[in-house]
Amino acid sequence: MLRDIQVNGVQFRVADEGLGPVILFVHGFPLNHSMWQAQIEEFSRTHRVIAPDLRGFGGTDGALYSVSMEQFADDLAELLDALAVEGPVIFCGLSMGGYIAWQFAQRHRNRLSKLIVCDTRAAADSPEAAANRLKMADIVLREGPEPVAWAMMPKLFAQCSSDRCPAIVASVRQMVMTSNPVAIAAAHRGMAVRPDVTGWLPTLDLPTLVLCGEHDAISPASEMKSFAELIPDAEFALIADAGHMAPMEQPQAVNAVLRRFIES
Ligand code: MLT
Repeated sequence: MLRDIQVNGVQFRVADEGLGPVILFVHGFPLNHSMWQAQIEEFSRTHRVIAPDLRGFGGTDGALYSVSMEQFADDLAELLDALAVEGPVIFCGLSMGGYIAWQFAQRHRNRLSKLIVCDTRAAADSPEAAANRLKMADIVLREGPEPVAWAMMPKLFAQCSSDRCPAIVASVRQMVMTSNPVAIAAAHRGMAVRPDVTGWLPTLDLPTLVLCGEHDAISPASEMKSFAELIPDAEFALIADAGHMAPMEQPQAVNAVLRRFIES
C-alpha cells in the first residue's frame, strides 16, 4: 500500500506493507522506493516493510537547496513517529541509503535493532569527488537529470545484468530521469559534505550486515570488506553476478542473505 503522510510540512510517499517487526528500506541516489520492489514483496509476508521516498525524491516533496545525510536520517526518525512505529526497526540502506544509515545509527541508536548496509561507503568524498558533485548539482539544475543518468548508469550494474536484465536497467534509468532536479542537486550537495565515519565504526554496537555486489564499481567489495572488519558485530556478504544495484540485480540471492541475517 502506498501512503502519503505529512511530516513537519513535508508530504512523504511511503510503501507500507505487511505486519510484524519493522524493516525500513532506504533507497539510493537518485532513485525512489520502487528499487526495493523485490524486497517489499518478499519481506512483507513476515514483516511490516516501510520503504519511503526520501525528501524530494519520487512522490515526496520538500526538496531543499542542500540536504545533509543527517537531515535525511532525522526525516526518517520523524516519519517512523508519524507511522506510529514504536519498537526498534531493522534499517536497510543502499549506497546513499547507507550513508544515511550511519547517521541514523549515530543520532537515533535506540530506534534500531539491526543495521544492513548495501553497496555503500564509510569514507567521505575526496576533495575532487566533492567538487565534481557541486558542479553536477549546478548542471542538473540547468539541464535536468540526463547528465546524471549519463554519468551513473554505466557504473550501476554488473555487465551480466545489463545483458541479462534490460528491464531492470530501463527501470533504474526511468527512476533517474523522473527524479526532481532540485532533489538531485540537494542530495549531491549533501553527499559532498558527508562525514567520514570510518573512525566511528568500532563503536557501532549493533548486529550489522555489510552486503556488496561482487562487481560494484562505486563501492568496491575490497573497500566494503575492510570497513566491515572494523565493526565489532558485522558480517560481510558478497553477491555474485551483481554490481552496485545488487538487490535489484540478484533479488533472490540478496533476499536469502537478508532473511538469514534478519532471522538470526
Ligand atoms: C547511490 O547509489 O546512492 C550513489 O551511488 C551514491 C553516491 O553517489 O555516492
